[in-house]
Amino acid sequence: MRIAVIYGGDKTAEGAVINQTYNPRSWKSYQTVAEDIAGALRRIGFRHVHLMSEDMQLGNRLAESGIHMAWLNTGGVQGLNPMAHAAAMLEMCGIPYVGHDPLSAGMLDNKHVFKRELQALDIPNAPFVLCHYGSGPFRPEADIRFKRIFGDYAGPFVVKPVSGRASLHVHLVGRTSDLSDAVAEVQRATDNHVLVERFLPGREFCIAACGPVTAHGGKLRRHHEPFVFAAVERILAPNEMIFTSMDVRPITLDRVRRLDPVSDACHLSTLEKLARKVYRELNLESLIRLDVRIDSDGVMEILECNPKPDLKFPTPERLSLVCANLAAHGMGYDDLILSLIADRIDLLLSQRRRAVTHLTALLDRP
Ligand SMILES: Nc1ncnc2c1ncn2[C@@H]1O[C@H](COP(=O)(O)OP(=O)(O)OP(=O)(O)O)[C@@H](O)[C@H]1O
Ligand SMILES: [Mg+2]
Repeated sequence: MRIAVIYGGDKTAEGAVINQTYNPRSWKSYQTVAEDIAGALRRIGFRHVHLMSEDMQLGNRLAESGIHMAWLNTGGVQGLNPMAHAAAMLEMCGIPYVGHDPLSAGMLDNKHVFKRELQALDIPNAPFVLCHYGSGPFRPEADIRFKRIFGDYAGPFVVKPVSGRASLHVHLVGRTSDLSDAVAEVQRATDNHVLVERFLPGREFCIAACGPVTAHGGKLRRHHEPFVFAAVERILAPNEMIFTSMDVRPITLDRVRRLDPVSDACHLSTLEKLARKVYRELNLESLIRLDVRIDSDGVMEILECNPKPDLKFPTPERLSLVCANLAAHGMGYDDLILSLIADRIDLLLSQRRRAVTHLTALLDRP
């Protein structure tokens, strides 16, 4: 089986796009992480692993290299909802992939849409108001929705992009009177809608979830529910209200505390239930990382759900959150990569057989 690991293409490269437009979601190529994933696939035993950038030539590249299956490690090239573009293109081309389908990718990467799903499911998340791009300046004092959601609450607030990454353009705003300027600034930076949320003052946690087929020391196992792992607390410095962007300060061991099954049993159990519920209720089929924070009443509220969590091969100088606690599950980095691809192949063969006749033909070859 020939597999392509796909990273985000550069819109300024020749032949990448017809017209260069804009990036409401801050662009990053994610190429080095794609190389880490490709390295693990080769160590696992895949002999034909290709690295490719996502851009308008992707279909040709996949066809020319005879690719059977892809791994999406891309946040897109440009334009609206870029997280969904590669998945949509591969659906059209008939190439199966590890990653979220276009609807899930777009829903998860639009924090306001994801939060509305959470509301419908009664899953706690920070109270918010959406400031529509193009509706003129945001005036909280005259905004009925703002009054309905926040009532007498006078701050602090968090103002952030609906589609963002690495804490970029996330602002802590102390007073209602400063919201209008902060919203305008984020709208200018992202050309998109902006979220105003209640600031959750408590501790911050992450947890990952993926499908039920996992690998441990190279041996596959099938669980009866989504696999949840990497429950960690993000350690904030005394005056660090917003977790510092990993673009500014890479995540190191001292910034992350693994939850202890005994002393953190209560937090761990809540996080695991949240992660399983989100994975199941939203019909997700690939890796996610939930970011969670505790509110002033001690309730764990979901901040967001990352559809493409960082999968960098972990080193002491730069940790990826989902790899922070693999050893506790008898797993290494290569096991995680094998888990994600094995789970997808299992799903394709058991539920989407008509979409993968080119893979079953490989199995039938003498
Ligand atoms: N409502 C909130 N209350 C308290 N802190 C918040 C809130 N929203 C965001 N933050 C802080 O800002 C950080 C970034 O926010 P969020 O996770 O929503 O966006 P992101 O930029 O997509 O993050 P990531 O780095 O995980 O991609 C969080 O890790 C948290 O520290
Ligand atoms: Mg986050």
